Amino acid sequence: MADSSAIDERIEMLKAFDDTKAGVKGLNDAGLFKLPEIFVRPPEEVAAELKHEKAQVQVEVPVIDLSSVDDAGRRKQIVEQVRSAAETWGFFQVVNHGIPLSVLDGVIDGVRSFIHQDVDEKKKYYSRDVTRTVLYNSSYDLFESKTASWRDTLSISVNSGSHLLHPMDLPAVCRYSTLEYSKHVEKLGKIVLGILSEALGLQTDFLENMECLKGHRLHCHYYPACPEPELAIGLTKHSDTGFLTILLQNQLVSGLQVLYDGRWIDIQPVEGGLVINIGDLLQLASNGKFRSSEHRAIANRTGPRISVGCFFSGPVTNSNKIYGPIDQLITQENPAVYKEIVLSEYLKKFLSTGLDNYCALDYYKL
Ligand code: OGA
Ligand code: NI
Repeated sequence: MADSSAIDERIEMLKAFDDTKAGVKGLNDAGLFKLPEIFVRPPEEVAAELKHEKAQVQVEVPVIDLSSVDDAGRRKQIVEQVRSAAETWGFFQVVNHGIPLSVLDGVIDGVRSFIHQDVDEKKKYYSRDVTRTVLYNSSYDLFESKTASWRDTLSISVNSGSHLLHPMDLPAVCRYSTLEYSKHVEKLGKIVLGILSEALGLQTDFLENMECLKGHRLHCHYYPACPEPELAIGLTKHSDTGFLTILLQNQLVSGLQVLYDGRWIDIQPVEGGLVINIGDLLQLASNGKFRSSEHRAIANRTGPRISVGCFFSGPVTNSNKIYGPIDQLITQENPAVYKEIVLSEYLKKFLSTGLDNYCALDYYKL
């Protein structure tokens, strides 16, 4: 147990870093050779990982081709592939998903431009107030987690269920590109939710009617090059809290890993592809049929790596919305394994816990 003066010292260091409002990019620009202490993971965590590293396995998250998804025969195959991936990995990549490459490149460029601006310009958006529609910060859980993460994030709440984002709230350098991407990714979200509904044996619009497409939020992550990547983490191990996540990663540096069969498996960027994963709420709604897998982003010696995650978390501003295992999926042989949750309470619990302490669905098991 750390003594109280060590804790105070750490809080001072975190505050000093937070007050710069320049994020990890600011540290990196200063030309560091050593990782600052607040980013150093506990030695036992690093040691446990070195053991893992030796066991190389040649498995990959499935890549699913979405072309001709409206053709009945093709759709059946796609539904089957998605079902299998959602039940085993909880992750898959999609290609030929209909979002033009120029839109994907555009949003990555927009995020880069935002982070590369003068600190004075981006400072205006620096905040830890999650009710803001647009905010930028470094480690949303900086003061709750054990280790600060080696990344900066611009978060944009596009559609929280009750109010829509005002375009003028967005930074000018990424206003058009983020809105354009957001429109496309919402359409893709609708297609994927339709496929997932069918994969559960439900009507195509079932999950959409549950308002799963609401709560559309973009988390634009910027992972700078890191002087001592083995000691740091880009984004700590977690599962996503919402229903569905669609993630775009730039092509240059990989960093995303999924925990599969007890091992960390790299999810290499596929040209023009997008990573899709099941979130905790969909694991709960599907009564455990679909998996919300733990994943993380490692730090790299080269960079930057940029990713844009689009999270569909339900109507987050409708405080009384209740979700539980879908009735149609519950039978005598297959009884409910999760409790019902009130969306606002569920999200509050997540936000008040550091990502590295959060045990997701364990709290809601019956
Ligand atoms: C996330 C996430 C992975 C990445 O934002 O929840 O898992 O590669 N991101 O940035
Ligand atoms: Ni995630």
